[in-house]
Amino acid sequence: MRDSNVNFNFLHRTCTLVVLLCFLHISVTLFYYVRSWDFKQHFVQSHQGQRKLAAEGEGTEEEAKHTTTFPDLLPNATESTKDLQKCPEPSPLLVGPLRIEFSSPVSLELVRKENPALQNGGRFKPKDCIALQKVAIIIPFRNRDEHLKFWLYYLHPILQRQQLDYGVYIINQDGDDTFNRAKLLNVGYAEALKEYDYDCFVFSDVDLIPMDDRNTYKCFSQPRHLSVSMDKFGFRLPYNQYFGGVSSMSKEQFLKINGFPNNYWGWGGEDDDIYNRLSSKGMSISRPSGAIGKCRMIRHERDKQNDPNPQRFDRIAHTRETMHKDGINSLSYKVLKVEKDRLFTKITVHVGKPPN
Ligand code: BGC
Repeated sequence: MRDSNVNFNFLHRTCTLVVLLCFLHISVTLFYYVRSWDFKQHFVQSHQGQRKLAAEGEGTEEEAKHTTTFPDLLPNATESTKDLQKCPEPSPLLVGPLRIEFSSPVSLELVRKENPALQNGGRFKPKDCIALQKVAIIIPFRNRDEHLKFWLYYLHPILQRQQLDYGVYIINQDGDDTFNRAKLLNVGYAEALKEYDYDCFVFSDVDLIPMDDRNTYKCFSQPRHLSVSMDKFGFRLPYNQYFGGVSSMSKEQFLKINGFPNNYWGWGGEDDDIYNRLSSKGMSISRPSGAIGKCRMIRHERDKQNDPNPQRFDRIAHTRETMHKDGINSLSYKVLKVEKDRLFTKITVHVGKPPN
């Protein structure tokens, strides 16, 4: 009897010990499981915080680039894009004055390598915030590949720091007939809108590079003239009404003036016509300060088939009468080729030739 009691007690203690050990095991497992989730969430938050710091200028852009992409692997990291805030104004990534020089050539491969965030067609949108504007950048073009490389080399990093949702459109005039800058700009407007719901259009010559990234390539409440102090003109406006080089207009502003004239063949006058259109519609020109609006022009010979247009003075004198029938409402052209590169969308078009 005593023996069986001793046996029972021994068995009872062993069982209790086993149950206690099991309980301890489960508790420890649970503890570490829950802790691992806390850690993951903390990791995501601190990573996002780090990126935000970089975006707010407290960390560097370089640091933001090198932070691990671990959160991208978590399902809730992709969901967090829904909670993006609007990008701050002005962008905290801006650095101010820039050194621009054209002494050593650049290659497209280098520009592609230095801009890994670009998407096909020269498209970009910020990852950490919602861009304030959707900007199509339109460049009238023919046989200026060397200039285009410099433009892409300098502008892509600037536009990304400006936190724009943007696309670059090179509108290439086919053939050797007289160049028509303003018509190519109209084509760029029409073609870009077929691709994306842009609300702002920047019209830029291929040989003009801003010297300060605070000169934001976006739209304002009035049409904007961006290239206000060019080295070519001694860093000042050649005349008050000057609207050439680089300018921007919202879709609404562009449509209010019926776009740009299609009948300025050869060099000169079309920018003055655009100025006349704007002022006849009661708009004024917005401009950055002379210091922020500094820009460099790549020196070059005058292009073939782009001699000064002798008719320009007469045309400028009649903008108010002609602008309602000549513009985006009368635009006709033929697209011959669309090329998508990671740095740009190049659209080759036939725009016709001047009437004899
Ligand atoms: C022309 C413009 C040109 C400006 C500056 C004017 O005479 O009409 O088209 O932009 O000179 O060169």
